[in-house]
Amino acid sequence: MQFFVDTADLEKIKEINRWFPLDGVTTNPTLVADSGAEHHSLIRSICKEVKGPVSAEVLATSSEEMIKEAHVLAGLHPQVVVKLPLTKEGLVATACLSEENISTNLTLCFSALQALSAAKAGATFVSVFVGRLDDIGVDGMEMVSQVIHIFSQYQVKTKVLVASVRHLSHVLAASEIGADIVTIPPALFSKMVEHPLTDKGLAQFLKSAGRSINK
Ligand code: E4P
Repeated sequence: MQFFVDTADLEKIKEINRWFPLDGVTTNPTLVADSGAEHHSLIRSICKEVKGPVSAEVLATSSEEMIKEAHVLAGLHPQVVVKLPLTKEGLVATACLSEENISTNLTLCFSALQALSAAKAGATFVSVFVGRLDDIGVDGMEMVSQVIHIFSQYQVKTKVLVASVRHLSHVLAASEIGADIVTIPPALFSKMVEHPLTDKGLAQFLKSAGRSINK
């Protein structure tokens, strides 16, 4: 399974990439706005930092405008994956971009049939928003299992990306059911590798050796 970070905060990306080599990055318009950075230069900087796909989202809502914006985003760096909403217009744009070999990530996917539609359009990735599904009382990870099962029956090449991850059990479940990718908010990355018994055990060992922890 591949691990992406879900943020547009370049400093956090650098910090995590130091101890957990990232396979890619996902951003969205909210995360970019929160970062305060200029979108295009930010995407270029992220691509320099992480060796893997970097999703940059279009803001257009018509297929024609999405395609124009996609060309600009894809031209920023070879690692850019154009993120498009899973709408009819997004599907039209995806099919055109797929013909041009431009990588796409169909975002805001909330049903297995939407995921299948993304695959039919030739999407490179489809982002299933598990946290937002859980919020409305639908089991997000169950939806991901369904998508993986459907895709496996038809040798679909579109990769299943688990997004809107809220807690470590989402990450664990994603790995257990064989999701291709999980995109994780920065705070959860630390929680994934830290454990109080590791800290306690290390402190004990160092104390025995007459040493202290160098941070
Ligand atoms: C994925 O690509 C999205 O950026 C993200 O996972 C959305 O998560 P949220 O539901 O926490 O906003």
